[in-house]
Amino acid sequence: MASSLCSNAGNFLLFLALASHLASVSFAGNFYQDVDITWGDGRAKILNNGELLTLSLDKSSGSGFQSKKEYLYGKIDMQIKLVSGNSAGTVAAYYLSSQGAAHDEIDFEFLGNLSGDPYVVHTNVYTQGKGNREMQFYLWFDPTMDFHTYSLLWNPKHVVFYVDGTPIREFKNRESAGMAYPKNQAMKVYSSLWNADDWATRGGLVKTDWSKAPFTASFRNLNAMGCVWASGASSSSCSSVNNTWMWQEFDSASLQRLRWVQENYMIYNYCTDVKRFPQGLPPECSMS
Ligand SMILES: *[C@@H]1O[C@H](CO)[C@@H](O)[C@H](O)[C@H]1NC(C)=O
Ligand SMILES: *[C@@H]1O[C@H](CO)[C@@H](O)[C@H](O)[C@H]1NC(C)=O
Repeated sequence: MASSLCSNAGNFLLFLALASHLASVSFAGNFYQDVDITWGDGRAKILNNGELLTLSLDKSSGSGFQSKKEYLYGKIDMQIKLVSGNSAGTVAAYYLSSQGAAHDEIDFEFLGNLSGDPYVVHTNVYTQGKGNREMQFYLWFDPTMDFHTYSLLWNPKHVVFYVDGTPIREFKNRESAGMAYPKNQAMKVYSSLWNADDWATRGGLVKTDWSKAPFTASFRNLNAMGCVWASGASSSSCSSVNNTWMWQEFDSASLQRLRWVQENYMIYNYCTDVKRFPQGLPPECSMS
């Protein structure tokens, strides 16, 4: 789909023409302008003139929001401060997804824990409706004390999950080896806070303590630099003045950071779970 790329000269000129206007839009990060609250019946709140968004969860409901725009490739940054104290059983999700059964999806899920026990960062990538590519990590800081930046990079080369600018996971484009890669379904940004105490914490052993409800997670500085998909127009244009992310590949320093995280903080990798895949590990697992 060449029309979806931002690389052609026409788009680039359009881009320059719009750059001064778009700059203010793409870097302002105002939740009133950028997202719709989609569920939670008042439990999701936009505060501080649009600079802050809080999601809450109690026994009757969680809450969530989604971006107004859809993207076909992008770099999405968001700062999140996770539920403090006893967050066991709760999950805060932050992901990109397209619609339908054969959808593509790129997931961050933050699995809560008892006070003092570590949060788990759960990640997954779906291509054409197929997931089962979970990798999980601990963090090198307490994500409930402060805001930290969680980013998703999605370009034609790879999908990368970042925590405070450090890559924790890469999903490469291996179309040349016949594997599906997300590239022709536009995605929105979604976030939600919900109860998943049937599986989230120690595999479901630790339940949500509702006496601690409501649980609250906070979000700020959503910065979506992406190729905005105009539905119906079957084309997209980059909404950022600066699309270096579109061509970004790992340099050796990034690879070193990625290895550091994977050696020290990764606690689950589907690619090493031979019991789960008795028929053989997924093909990408044997490729570098
Ligand atoms: C919660 O803490 C326990 C004990 O340290 C740990 O095994 C587990 O991985 C932590 N996270 C989750 C989400 O279960
Ligand atoms: C473009 O992005 C790069 C990397 O994120 C950054 O270092 C650079 O300052 C940006 N340039 C402009 C003009 O915003």
